[in-house]
Amino acid sequence: MFVHITGTGSYLPERVVTNEELAASLETTDEWIYSHTGIRSRHIAADDESTSAMAVHAARAALASAGLMPEQVGLIIVATSTADYHAFPSTACLVQEALGAKNAAAFDLQAACTGFIYALEAARGMMQVNPCPTLVIGADMMSRIVDWTDRNSCILFGDAAGAVVLEANDVPGGIWHAILKSDGSGAQLICREGGSRQRVDSPCKMHTLEMKGRAVFNFAVKVFDEVLCGLLQRSGNAFGDLACVIPHQANARIVEAVARRMGVPLATFHMNMETTGNTSAASIPVALDAAVRSGKIKDNDLMAMVGFGAGLTYGGILMRWRGKAGQPKAAGPSA
Ligand code: UT7
Repeated sequence: MFVHITGTGSYLPERVVTNEELAASLETTDEWIYSHTGIRSRHIAADDESTSAMAVHAARAALASAGLMPEQVGLIIVATSTADYHAFPSTACLVQEALGAKNAAAFDLQAACTGFIYALEAARGMMQVNPCPTLVIGADMMSRIVDWTDRNSCILFGDAAGAVVLEANDVPGGIWHAILKSDGSGAQLICREGGSRQRVDSPCKMHTLEMKGRAVFNFAVKVFDEVLCGLLQRSGNAFGDLACVIPHQANARIVEAVARRMGVPLATFHMNMETTGNTSAASIPVALDAAVRSGKIKDNDLMAMVGFGAGLTYGGILMRWRGKAGQPKAAGPSA
């Protein structure tokens, strides 16, 4: 049995915040941000938007591109670190209700910026047991948890959601190899307090994200190389066989450093962080949707997605893209 991505969708909030706009209230400049990150602007959600609402927009677009109705979906996984509610209900249940996906199981998965990669592999595993059409969504509203006075981190992030539909069938191709890794020794490198370590009687405080940027940068370059080489080694392919790599859209300088280190052309990496910033779990599916819709990924292409983030977590997926060709054949008239 093969598991294919048969539809993609994404959502970016309407409001665009440029580097110049940030420089009006922070000690920074467009020149510094762009030269250190490759980011020029990001989308920021309106006050009345939520992570689940963004996820629903992306999921509807993915279902439309796969040609499926919500009631055909058997499983919804939402990768997010910025759930609508602190613990429960899950964002996935809110998405299930809003879509009218009345036959779907639904749960959230938290692996920070690697969440979408983890969720894809979790879905692929579950589909071996129950091969139902599945929605995998990466959605994050980072604007709600960053410290807007910290120039070391807030300039990086944006809000978005991206979604894919997975379908299982006997068409060769689809998701081929996956590598999922973690390194909890770096837990404090990107951290947001305010969980169960905080006693209920302690003074209530809204905690914001704290990050040791340079250490995360070095970690990202190292593990990106490790994951991509590991995936190619498993499949017996060379970098030149890859039509496209979708990296986590954290910082263009990370991707450039990886390309230099591996001695491979930068053009193979699809980047859109210039206009999105780092949207955490949404970053890979949003970039994937753009790459698919622009025709950068075509039938039979070998492609990879690589993520890294808080936890620390990291991982990648190697797949033979079939898109529409990977959809189950419509059942013919019974004899
Ligand atoms: O999804 C994973 C999430 N995180 C990441 O991917 C983050 C990875 N790290 C990075 O992207 C980079 O480390 C940053 C963009 C965060 C920082 O760039 P850097 O080249 O590593 O800068 P740095 O932290 O080494 O800081 C260099 C200088 C410092 O000033 P001093 O101490 O040398 O005077 C910073 O205070 O740059 C200063 N700086 C800034 N200056 C202007 C840091 N942020 C800014 C800023 N504007 N926004």
